[in-house]
Amino acid sequence: MTKKANLAVVGCGHLAQRQHISNILKSRNANLHTLCDIDESILRDLNGRFPAAKTCTDIRLVMADPEVDGVVIATKTDLHVPLALEFLQAGKHVYVEKPLAETPDACEKVIAAEKAAGKKLIVGMNRRMAPSYRDAKQILLRHGGAKALYYRIADAYSIDWGKGFEPGYRLVVEVCHIFDICRFLTGDEVAEVYCLSRRNDEDNIVLNFASGATAMILSTGYAPWETPKEHMEVVADTGVITVDEFCELHCFGMEGEVPERLYPGHSHVEREQSHVAWIGSAGLAGDIGLRRMLADFRRETERMDHGSDAYRRRCHQLDEQLPMINYSVDKGWLAAVEHFADVILNGVDVEAATAMDAYEAARITRAAVLSRKEKRIVSMTEI
Ligand SMILES: NC(=O)c1ccc[n+]([C@@H]2O[C@H](COP(=O)([O-])OP(=O)(O)OC[C@H]3O[C@@H](n4cnc5c(N)ncnc54)[C@H](O)[C@@H]3O)[C@@H](O)[C@H]2O)c1
Repeated sequence: MTKKANLAVVGCGHLAQRQHISNILKSRNANLHTLCDIDESILRDLNGRFPAAKTCTDIRLVMADPEVDGVVIATKTDLHVPLALEFLQAGKHVYVEKPLAETPDACEKVIAAEKAAGKKLIVGMNRRMAPSYRDAKQILLRHGGAKALYYRIADAYSIDWGKGFEPGYRLVVEVCHIFDICRFLTGDEVAEVYCLSRRNDEDNIVLNFASGATAMILSTGYAPWETPKEHMEVVADTGVITVDEFCELHCFGMEGEVPERLYPGHSHVEREQSHVAWIGSAGLAGDIGLRRMLADFRRETERMDHGSDAYRRRCHQLDEQLPMINYSVDKGWLAAVEHFADVILNGVDVEAATAMDAYEAARITRAAVLSRKEKRIVSMTEI
């Protein structure tokens, strides 16, 4: 039997349950060895649902376990750096969620620890591994490279999942993904940043790259759930490429390229697969259809008595039917975890985001925050 990398998931909350655990189970080269969370009730709930050799509440048991090759850290941000340092020192390879840290200085500590440990660390800025974005990058390289880029990331952050965060934090926790993808697509470093904002968590950001390439990012946390979350347009020397929601790619004026590609993605191991067929056959229109169903469901249940049996039944029914909407398209999580296992097993070069990429994303974030505050262009030499 082909050897698989034994992985421990540390922090088994929302993201781990929606992506990492399911992806490890369906991966070609990783084995779900340990589930570790300080919250015992989470482990009780996961036990039986997902087959892992071990469960534990204490990370020291994972560190000391010689069977564990690598850890996937999916705790909240404040623990990313301390846990990454401890696991590297314990001799484990590390996949750690984004943002690696809120400051460039903290990322530097991880870069040094990775070097000292002789182990590999990957950061969960997973969009680099999304099949549609990897294709886009290759197409762009064949047509002179990315010269001008527009990226929209729009979701319900301010009215939903970002409510607990401090005002303006969206740049740190979410737009870091996009800073990374702009660097990935241009293959270049940012020289200047301008960030204009009229309300919290809604930013217009311009990145000027050293080579003269530019990127404009619109990030808003005020988009209703039915809005497709991500869209990009990239102008190369000889044409334009667009990608919508990671599932539909178009090439314009790029000789020799397939003009349209669809990316169906895959489903969670606990879920039914119909959204894969929707997205695989209708692309963006499939994604929008699913989003509209979710929005209708939300409107319908808002009016219901949340303590009633009818409400519980409806939630259960729809939970079974609807995919987890922002997780239903392929943003590269599965490829990232399989790549992590390849790095561990075969020592292949890291193509996913590294601690150095996280450091650069943290520097751009810092420049954007400063620019927004002082309403001026910030040079990266100031950061
Ligand atoms: N890459 C992506 O696309 C993406 C998407 C969503 C979230 N995230 C990131 O994933 C991370 C987790 O987010 P979430 O929404 O799943 O959070 P969450 O709060 O749902 O899960 C975190 C879990 O970590 C556990 N935990 C805390 N301290 C621990 C410790 N010392 N040892 C073991 N377990 C511990 C908690 O009990 C909890 O279950 C965040 O950093 C977030 O930014 C990334």
